Amino acid sequence: MITKNYTELPPLRADLAKHMEDTRAWIEEQCGRPAEEMAEFFTVREDGYDEHMMQFAPCYDVTAAQIPADCRYLLDLGCGSGLELDALDRLCRAEGRAFPKVFGVDMTKALVDQLFAKHPDKDITVELGSYFDVPFGTEEFDCAVSVESIHHFSLDEKLPLFRKVWEALKPGGIFLQCDYFAACPEEVDMNEEHWRIRRAMNRDIGDGDFVHIDRPQMAYDEAAVMEKAGFSEVLYCTVGVEGTLLLIAKK
Ligand SMILES: C[S@@+](CC[C@H](N)C(=O)[O-])C[C@H]1O[C@@H](n2cnc3c(N)ncnc32)[C@H](O)[C@@H]1O
Repeated sequence: MITKNYTELPPLRADLAKHMEDTRAWIEEQCGRPAEEMAEFFTVREDGYDEHMMQFAPCYDVTAAQIPADCRYLLDLGCGSGLELDALDRLCRAEGRAFPKVFGVDMTKALVDQLFAKHPDKDITVELGSYFDVPFGTEEFDCAVSVESIHHFSLDEKLPLFRKVWEALKPGGIFLQCDYFAACPEEVDMNEEHWRIRRAMNRDIGDGDFVHIDRPQMAYDEAAVMEKAGFSEVLYCTVGVEGTLLLIAKK
């Protein structure tokens, strides 16, 4: 279901009270453990990573379906092992259309190695690094995509990133941000507190380094940041996975 108006969407969680109870219990259990550095977190879990992420399988197909058929150059933020590219590949094959040239950015080499092993024949370049630092250029891409990656960051961190994505898109380009969002403002606060506590427990992680702790935001707050970054319109799209939405931001 695609809508311009967030309030027209079904609730993000079928049973909000139970979701909050489960999340609170999970955070309490996690709070004794120091945060793990981002790339390290995914590296130690690289075996079975794709199978684990299949709980989000519809996200990949719904996102791939929104990539314009005439997209020639695609930016993928946090491409990981390339699950959204797998879905796009299936779609391109089914529709007999060309797979676009891709520029991916990710900080976990172990997952990027899996991506290249799956797609040795494609025009895919991946820069190993943080999408906050890697330059994307100006008016280079027809479309930008990100699946299940940007929910690790605060709204303040997202604004310059979204500005960079806006700048990198050609006029009329779209940014597909498919991610985990909070179901209510209390969930945002709970996760922020969780991040603060566990971030402080790991003194080996430098100030500029990232930790793997979810910081889902309210989708309408994220859409407001996208508009502040320059996007003219943001649409909301359900993807058939609880807690996850696809935001379609138009340049
Ligand atoms: C949950 S995985 C999702 C990967 C892929 N998009 C998918 O859905 O399977 C999150 C990915 O984001 C990457 N990531 C997190 N923060 C990043 C950053 N600041 N710059 C680049 N990649 C980042 C991680 O390395 C990881 O591969």
